[in-house]
Amino acid sequence: MYLIAPSILSADFSRLAEAVILAEKGGADMVHLDVMDGHFVPNITFGHQLVASLREKTRLPINVHLMVDNPDKMIPLFLEAGADWLSFHIEASHHVHRDLQTIKEAGRKAGLALNPATPIELLSEVLDELDFVIIMTVNPGWGGQKFIPATRNKIQRLSQWLAEKKLPALIAVDGGIKLDNLAALFELGMNIAICGSSVYSADDPISVMKKMKAIANEFNQKIARTK
Ligand code: DX5
Ligand code: ZN
Repeated sequence: MYLIAPSILSADFSRLAEAVILAEKGGADMVHLDVMDGHFVPNITFGHQLVASLREKTRLPINVHLMVDNPDKMIPLFLEAGADWLSFHIEASHHVHRDLQTIKEAGRKAGLALNPATPIELLSEVLDELDFVIIMTVNPGWGGQKFIPATRNKIQRLSQWLAEKKLPALIAVDGGIKLDNLAALFELGMNIAICGSSVYSADDPISVMKKMKAIANEFNQKIARTK
């Protein structure tokens, strides 16, 4: 499965509902919302109230990426706000298994995000609990950074590991994705492309998303043919 998830972090913060509507028009599969608390990462973005209001504006699934310390305190708020996919950082949680269960018990998709320097091996005891993993390919906290090449190897190894264990977790990749590296990342094993500045800083975000979606569809057709 190959999906496009635009991140509204690079959109105009005074017009976020419009950014979500643009994602719908561009054929996005879900919209990615980055929650930053000023502690786990230096920036502050928004909280659960914004997720709840955007939830009313779109039928697209909302994928919330918590870049916060003590995610256990915030997870219930974001579940209540209507996050369909909810991830937190493995580096930030003291009780990873319990926090994942809280998300799964609410019937939502549970994910873990990993910073560029965090080894995928840390996932070993919870790999079968996960609906998705976010491999950060930039250091979290800002949009518009350059893709860190060394992270390619993590995507590839995680993809092989999941295949060997026949586990269903999807691999989301977050940071520095553009039209020109999208296909290569799908090739490595990425399932969900999280794209911020390449979409929302473009002159025509809808056209960029449509091009990205076309590339994702080529990959989807390729697997449909091999089945
Ligand atoms: C960064 C966020 C990303 C961000 C990616 O900390 O997690 O979701 O929006 O932005 P780009 O695509 O511009 O690297
Ligand atoms: Zn993100």
